[in-house]
Amino acid sequence: MASALKIAALFFLLCGSWRWSAVSGTSPMTAVDMFEQWIAQYGRTYANESEKSYRLGVFTRNLDYVNAFRQAGNRSYTVGLNHFADLTDEEFRATYTSTGLSPSDGSYPGLMPFQYANVTAPSSIDWRNEGAVTPVKNQAQCGSCWAFSAIASIEGINKIVKGSLISLSEQQVFACDHYDAGCSGGLHYRAFSYAVSSGGITTEANYPYQPHQVACNSTKQSDHAVSITGYAMVPTNNETLLMNAVANQPVSVSVDAHTFRFYKGGIFDGPCGTNLDHDVTFVGYGTDENGVAYWIAKNSWGAWWGDHGYIRFKKDVAEKEGQCGLTLRASYPII
Ligand SMILES: *[C@@H]1O[C@H](CO)[C@@H](O)[C@H](O)[C@H]1NC(C)=O
Ligand SMILES: *[C@@H]1O[C@H](CO)[C@@H](O)[C@H](O)[C@H]1NC(C)=O
Ligand SMILES: *[C@@H]1O[C@H](CO)[C@@H](O)[C@H](O)[C@H]1NC(C)=O
Ligand SMILES: *[C@@H]1O[C@H](CO)[C@@H](O)[C@H](O)[C@H]1NC(C)=O
Ligand SMILES: *[C@@H]1O[C@H](CO)[C@@H](O)[C@H](O)[C@H]1NC(C)=O
Repeated sequence: MASALKIAALFFLLCGSWRWSAVSGTSPMTAVDMFEQWIAQYGRTYANESEKSYRLGVFTRNLDYVNAFRQAGNRSYTVGLNHFADLTDEEFRATYTSTGLSPSDGSYPGLMPFQYANVTAPSSIDWRNEGAVTPVKNQAQCGSCWAFSAIASIEGINKIVKGSLISLSEQQVFACDHYDAGCSGGLHYRAFSYAVSSGGITTEANYPYQPHQVACNSTKQSDHAVSITGYAMVPTNNETLLMNAVANQPVSVSVDAHTFRFYKGGIFDGPCGTNLDHDVTFVGYGTDENGVAYWIAKNSWGAWWGDHGYIRFKKDVAEKEGQCGLTLRASYPII
């Protein structure tokens, strides 16, 4: 199999149609040139030449996808090569998303009733403008999105209720929450349940993120900066109820992520399914100049990913599960 892939890579090298006009449209660049430039930009190194030529083949296929998407035109969002450009779809899913987690009912300790059924939501909100969102973080090569999603929601409600924005420790949740499974994945609402049982969360500065350090430091775990009293699940299949919640605080949301890894900006309208494999944090919503409604999601793939680390999803779609299944599993912390 590996050698078949390498032969395929060689095929790309020898015969692939890799002459391609750069985005600027002035100087044509080969895929090889672009790959070298990309390697320099992201500081990538490969173990040996055969690994490098295999990665060139993967890069070229991703480049072809981006190129074809741009040529098709007329889309509500843009794509571009980013730090995921030398990964296959399978590698990307295995490393940066959390697959194989069975969704459950959310009845872990601390569950409270949804309290936003009857609120009147404004037509738009962006919690970034209210100072309730910390800078975009990076989960690195680890399926710990669930911890980042939960922490961003806790940072948000703490600012809204207590008045100060404190960057909190994903590492504590990642290493100490035994409902969840570290880099192998987890669920945002179980992270909230952990935060309730632990009595609180320490600061990012006190317990910084180290993705492969899975042993919980109980001293740091007990040094609480922020506490939550519970969490609630947003009723499923209803974008209005999700909007009511986001109108009041940042909300953790699960989505089907593997089709938007090269997203660069605009409003993502698919294609994507409802196989929930990634957790993000919804920090607002609004309507663009063409009247298209969107959600604003904070991601945890670094600030250079997507639109400065964010992605906007199409809102109020015909399907009640929402774009990429965004109404199927959402929860928020309560202080
Ligand atoms: C090249 O590196 C890859 C990835 O580390 C490794 O699997 C492979 O065995 C290496 N090949 C040679 C010829 O050293
Ligand atoms: C662009 O896409 C929209 C919505 O999908 C469609 O209604 C419109 O006809 C398309 N325009 C062109 C020029 O293809
Ligand atoms: C919301 O309103 C409905 C009908 O007006 C009422 O039955 C329900 O109890 C209210 N829910 C909450 C949480 O206030
Ligand atoms: C745990 O955290 C404490 C307080 O920051 C520190 O002194 C200690 O060395 C840490 N323990 C381990 C095993 O890293
Ligand atoms: C969403 O929930 C509200 C309040 O319970 C209800 O009025 C509305 O019909 C629901 N919308 C959908 C699409 O189910």
